[in-house]
Amino acid sequence: MSRTWQRLTATLVLPVLAAVVCAPAWTDDGDGLPSTTRDARNMLDAGRHTFRFDTFGDEGFWGGTIRLHEAIEGGRFGGVGPGVSPRAALAVGLKVDVDALPAALVQSLKSGQVNLDDPATTLALLKLNAVVGVTGFFDPTGTMLRSVGIQCALCHSTVDDSLAPGIGRRLDGWANRDLNVGAIVGLAPDLSAVATLLRVDEGTVRKVLAAWGPGKFDAELLLDGKAFRPDGKSAASLIPPAFGLAGVNLHTWVGWGSVTHWNAFVATLEMHGKGTFFDPRLRDASQFPIAARAGFDDVRNDPDLVSPKLPALHLYQLALVAPKAPAGSFDSEAAARGKQVFAASGCASCHVPPTFTEPGWNLHSPAELGIDDFQANRAPAKGYRTAPLRGLWTHRKGGFYHDGRFATLLDVVNHYDLQFGLHLSAEEKRDLVEYLNSL
Ligand code: HEC
Ligand code: HEC
Repeated sequence: MSRTWQRLTATLVLPVLAAVVCAPAWTDDGDGLPSTTRDARNMLDAGRHTFRFDTFGDEGFWGGTIRLHEAIEGGRFGGVGPGVSPRAALAVGLKVDVDALPAALVQSLKSGQVNLDDPATTLALLKLNAVVGVTGFFDPTGTMLRSVGIQCALCHSTVDDSLAPGIGRRLDGWANRDLNVGAIVGLAPDLSAVATLLRVDEGTVRKVLAAWGPGKFDAELLLDGKAFRPDGKSAASLIPPAFGLAGVNLHTWVGWGSVTHWNAFVATLEMHGKGTFFDPRLRDASQFPIAARAGFDDVRNDPDLVSPKLPALHLYQLALVAPKAPAGSFDSEAAARGKQVFAASGCASCHVPPTFTEPGWNLHSPAELGIDDFQANRAPAKGYRTAPLRGLWTHRKGGFYHDGRFATLLDVVNHYDLQFGLHLSAEEKRDLVEYLNSL
């Protein structure tokens, strides 16, 4: 650049730039907010509401088809069986939102005056919209449970246990590793629709669901019908957190696509909401025999109760920041040393800070990781997505890696030590684990 140009730039362009930067940003409505900030806030509120409360019309499946509500209310209230008491609900990992409870009820709970063994109490909690991720639909008189629907918050939220174990304030985005999805779905009196789709008998469906265990769900089952791995263990994956995902390219353990791709997929195909979903990769009948047969590659519903909510839901998901590890929950000096070990061991070449996944195509082959390819082969990309590591401390239950094969972080580190020939000392391993605990 010549001197003249530099001077011209300084005299002409800079003042203009300064004027643009210093000018009051676009505002209207007199609230003083730049319009993008206001739009983002409105979208966040809408997205949070969808994440927490929207069933996308999936009560047509959970109540209408498999009649889960009948098992919840029990024979005494017009359903079937003994009903689900709050104690039973908490035992399968369902959570209660304390902010939805009236003050008097909170007091009664504190003083142990609420009957946690009576399904009537569960119905009262559902009426208050206090069961995280589950909505009850009652008849006009408000006494009979007519149907039930589920939300994203069911699997991707928990509570802080502030009132009692399982009862507290919502923690959106946290993986609910207590939740036994298989046990809950297994309560439903009629699973014939699932059996028909999978071309097996209902008893087999119930056996598969019972094998999932807490904190797990199998998002691929209704695509490929593979319920068990070659070693005979359940094919279900751990529920991952839904926070810390901004800046992360591929999503899910096996890199199905973007957050919004997966949101549309889950809402329409897994939760059975009434949406639109298009993914021609599911036409591959050799990889996805069930999906190809059922036409899951191109699903349309009119009215579409999912698509209008996807933009705000996407923004809300990206806004969920991974919670910081509480001070004192890890050894900070060891963690500082562990950070060096993390860098020196090549961990950071895949887990690139601050997202702790690769900017770009964040997928690796099973061979690179030194693990089997069963789960990788159940998705189009046939790899494993570099797991973002922030907030690991919130989901230690159930283990690590997609199927929880490593019970502790030390087990993960020992695996890498062998796989990459790192020869870490016991101390370096401990420091590395403390660093992982600190993220
Ligand atoms: C029944 C439990 C369940 C429900 C309900 C559920 N999810 Fe998930 N979610 C999972 C599981 C399990 C995975 C991992 C799937 C895989 O990798 O195969 C997952 C993965 C994800 C991911 C990818 C996370 C990452 O690390 O990249 C996002 C994002 C997500 N879910 C969002 C949602 C949204 C939004 C909803 C509601 C529309 C929802 N989920 C409903 C169980 C659930
Ligand atoms: C070649 C890329 C790569 C390297 C190098 C790598 N990782 Fe990973 N990491 C992955 C992938 C991919 C996964 C997800 C595995 C799965 O889905 O089962 C993962 C998963 C993890 C997990 C489990 C996360 C969870 O939510 O369960 C931890 C912890 C972890 N890595 C730590 C490390 C550490 C520590 C190192 C260095 C010793 C390291 N990684 C090196 C790619 C890598």
